[in-house]
Formats: sequence, structure tokens, C-alpha cells
Amino acid sequence: MLNIILFGPPGSGKGTQAMKLKEKYNLAHISTGDIFRAVIATPSDLGNELRSYMDQGQLVPDELTFRVLASYIDGHDLLKSGGIIFDGFPRTIPQANALDRFFAERNSNITIVLSLLVQEEEVVQRLLLRGQTSGRIDDNNEVVIRKRMQVYRDQTLPLAAYYSDQHKFIELKGQGTVDEVFELLCREIDHLLPPTV
Ligand code: AP5
Ligand code: MG
Repeated sequence: MLNIILFGPPGSGKGTQAMKLKEKYNLAHISTGDIFRAVIATPSDLGNELRSYMDQGQLVPDELTFRVLASYIDGHDLLKSGGIIFDGFPRTIPQANALDRFFAERNSNITIVLSLLVQEEEVVQRLLLRGQTSGRIDDNNEVVIRKRMQVYRDQTLPLAAYYSDQHKFIELKGQGTVDEVFELLCREIDHLLPPTV
């Protein structure tokens, strides 16, 4: 399996690139943010709980996040796919530990972590622009966007050292056109594939 974590701050282009990578390499795509927004779309207690964190730019608690993720992977039989692109997960050290254990129990692992480097002012502008049309409450308020950046620095950035220690962490320039960033990502992934004869 080719299991890729797309890493980077809010608005760095993880979702945009995951859609393209999924097509090119025939992988499954998991965005915890998208899964949570799908749950919220139908009124429920779980949806209300998720919304209370997301609208504030806070992370959903680890235990709840992992439960939703693990049941999504097993429920969709994704371990039988060619591989999985993780977008927006893991976001904390406990989530990364839980993911490592989950894969170890299923004789698989994370192949690589590809990190998109984008400056804060650029992502704030991208998210504000999207907020004009997306309907995402966490996008149309600059205070919440900056809060998401702060949460990223405090709780998610420590994962860079976690995966560097595993020799799996690669940083790439996430600014430039969507196609330019895609080319950089593909170059790294192509190195991991067996040579074609
Ligand atoms: P989530 O949905 O994961 O949002 P995010 O990571 O904060 O950020 P985005 O998804 O908005 O950004 P992205 O990097 O995918 O970029 P995109 O391609 O969309 O999480 C939302 C919330 O859910 C969290 O705050 C938290 O509450 C909760 N949550 C989710 N996962 C969790 C977890 N694991 N643990 C706990 N809580 C969790 O691009 C952004 C914009 O930029 C788009 O408009 C796009 O068109 C544009 N764009 C993309 N690439 C470029 C480019 N190269 N140039 C110009 N514009 C570009
Ligand atoms: Mg996203």
C-alpha cells in the first residue's frame, strides 16, 4: 500500500492536491474535515458536538476523531485499496500514535509524509477568499482562521519532528500554481514506486 499523509497548515492546498493525486495514483482519499462536515449536514448530537469545535477553529478531541476515522477506514474496506491519502489527519501526536498502532495491527504502515509549506498571509488570503462562497463558518472570519493557524502551530507542527525521526517527512513548496505544486508532489511519489520496465 502507498499510504501518504498530506501535511500542512489550514489552506495549504491539502484537499486540492489530494483530489488530483487520488486520480493519478488510484488511491483512496480521507479528509477528516470532509467526513465531519458530512456528519454535520444531518442534524444529530454527534454533529452538534463536532460543530461546536469546528466553528471555533478548535480541534475535535483525539478520541472522537480517531473513532470516526477508524470506522471510516474499516467500513469502506480501504485497507484493500492500493493506498490511502490522509488529508488533515493526524493533527496531534496522540493521533499519530493511534494511526501507527492501527496500521501495525493490520500489517501496514505510513509510507511518506509530504508537507506543503505556505506562508501564513497567503493561507489567510486563500481562506478568506473561499469563505465568500463556501459557507464554511471557519473560513469567513479572520479571527477564526488565525485561531486555526495557532492551533496548527501548537498542536500539529510537532508532528514534523515525529515523522522526521521516522525518516518519512519531506517538505515541499506549497506556493505557486496548483499544477506546479502537483508536479512537486508527483516527483516525490514517483520515487517511491517500483521502476516500470
Ligand atoms: P479541515 O477541513 O481539515 O480544514 P483545514 O486543514 O483547516 O484546512 P482546509 O481543508 O481549509 O485547507 P486545505 O489544506 O485542504 O486546502 P484546500 O485545498 O482546501 O478541518 C476543519 C476542522 O475540522 C478543523 O479546524 C477541526 O476543527 C476539525 N478537524 C479536521 N480534522 C481533524 C483532526 N484530525 N483532528 C481534530 N480535528 C479535526 O485549499 C484552500 C483554498 O486555497 C481553496 O479555496 C483552494 O482553491 C485554494 N488553493 C489551493 N491551492 C492553491 C494554490 N496553489 N494557489 C492558490 N490557491 C490555492
Ligand atoms: Mg482540506
